[in-house]
Formats: sequence, structure tokens, C-alpha cells
Amino acid sequence: MAILDKHKILETNATLLLICSFLVVTIGGLVQIAPLFYLENTIEEVEGMRPYTPLELAGREVYIREGCYVCHSQMIRPMRDEVERYGHYSLAAESMYDRPFQWGSKRTGPDLARVGGRYSDEWHVDHLRDPQAVVPESVMPKYGFLEEKKIDGKYIGDIMATNALLGTPYSEDMIETAQADFRAQADPDSDYDGLLERYGEKVNVRNFDGQPGVSEADALIAYLQMLGTLVDFSTFTPDASR
Ligand code: HEC
Repeated sequence: MAILDKHKILETNATLLLICSFLVVTIGGLVQIAPLFYLENTIEEVEGMRPYTPLELAGREVYIREGCYVCHSQMIRPMRDEVERYGHYSLAAESMYDRPFQWGSKRTGPDLARVGGRYSDEWHVDHLRDPQAVVPESVMPKYGFLEEKKIDGKYIGDIMATNALLGTPYSEDMIETAQADFRAQADPDSDYDGLLERYGEKVNVRNFDGQPGVSEADALIAYLQMLGTLVDFSTFTPDASR
């Protein structure tokens, strides 16, 4: 009976009940959430993932600025029709260096999570310039102006430093050489050994837009051609223990 009496005190005193409920919820919440910040195994590590190169990162900035995400998602769901159309479903780890992530929720156009390598650079140049010339019924706007906008990568090191602060593993060396790496990736005649050493042999080094100098189109196409190509799915096996 004693415990019922005590309960009565709580139930007849709204303020006390509120304070006690708040305490219980707080403790319960902390117990659930706090360990997630410290446990290593909440972060899925997948071979092949690397931070974006300076040129790809610049392309990603263009992608966000132009609002490509308004019509395109980057998230293949593990459903049969999606996997058959776009390829292996997206892994959380594939967005680990995306701040903000580009999953999206609207598909006016196709998902772009694995568009890398699906088309040639020339295809992308033609398509960005005039989507309707390539796909007559397309409602995608024209982005030919990106070719005219030359960029020098002056600020890309700063963006990388900010990402590093948030946990992306950009080393000081990578940040220092950012502008040189930025130029090297768009110029196959340059000395790009350092770039490959820092970001891996698989990095695409090409004159993406086919014109002299580095343009926003170069950066955007470098970004698109990398999407979904970092993880090698011919050797990837999902770890069910996670
Ligand atoms: C108004 C909506 C809209 C916007 C904004 C838009 N797109 Fe598209 N996009 C489409 C549609 C619709 C298609 C499918 C028809 C086509 O290929 O043009 C498409 C197709 C594509 C494709 C070919 C995908 C494939 O697998 O065939 C790429 C690549 C692409 N868009 C990139 C971009 C980029 C990069 C931007 C931003 C600079 C962008 N889109 C902005 C609607 C849009």
C-alpha cells in the first residue's frame, strides 16, 4: 500500500509529476544517445572511400549552388527496381564526406549516385549545354554558362580546411597543395603524380570540358564522373555483424 500512497502524491501534483517525468526521460535519453558519440562501430568503414579531390569538391559546390539536388537524388534504395536501374544500393559510408549530404527526396531526373563513368565527358558537356539536344523530352535547364566561368581554385583550400575541422581526413599537405592539385586534375599534360599519391591512382585526370583552362563545367563533370565509383562493388561484401 505504501508505494501506492507515494504514487498518489505524484499523480495529484502536476508540477512534481512533470519534473519527475522530465528526469526519467532525460536519463533514458542520455543512456541511449551518449554511447553513440563514442562507439567506433557506429561508423561503417568501407574500402575505397576517400575525401574528394579539390576539383571534385569544387564541382560539388557548383552542384549545390545550381540546385541540381532539387531534381536529382543521390541515394539508391535497396529495392529491386532501383538496384536494377541504377546499380548497387547506396551505402551510408558513401556519403561520409558529404557535408551536407545530397540524398535528396525528389527525382524529377534520375538518381545520380552512380552516374560516374556511365557517360563520356563529351556527353556531359553536350548534355549540360543543351539537355534537350540529347534527350528531347528532358525538362532539365541548360547549364552551358558553366563552361564560360573560369575558376582558379583560390578558395578550395579554405573549404577543405573547414571540412577537415569537421572530421574529413584532409591532411595539412593536401590543404597546402589544394590549388596545384585542383589545376593538375583538369590538365593531363601537367605533373599530377602528387595528386594521385594523395588521393589514389583511380582519380580521373582529364580535360573534362575539352577547353583550355579550368571552368566550373570541368569541376562539375569531374565530380559527376567520380560519383558512385569509389567503392569497388565487385569485391564488396556487406558485413552483417554491424
Ligand atoms: C528541373 C529539374 C532538373 C534540374 C534542376 C537538373 N536536372 Fe539533370 N536531369 C533532369 C531530367 C528530367 C533528366 C532526364 C532527362 C535528361 O537526361 O536530360 C536529367 C538528367 C541528368 C543527367 C543524366 C542522368 C542519367 O543517368 O541519364 C545528369 C548527369 C544530370 N541530369 C545532371 C544534372 C546536374 C549536374 C544538374 C545541376 C547543374 C542538373 N542535372 C539539374 C532534370 C533536372
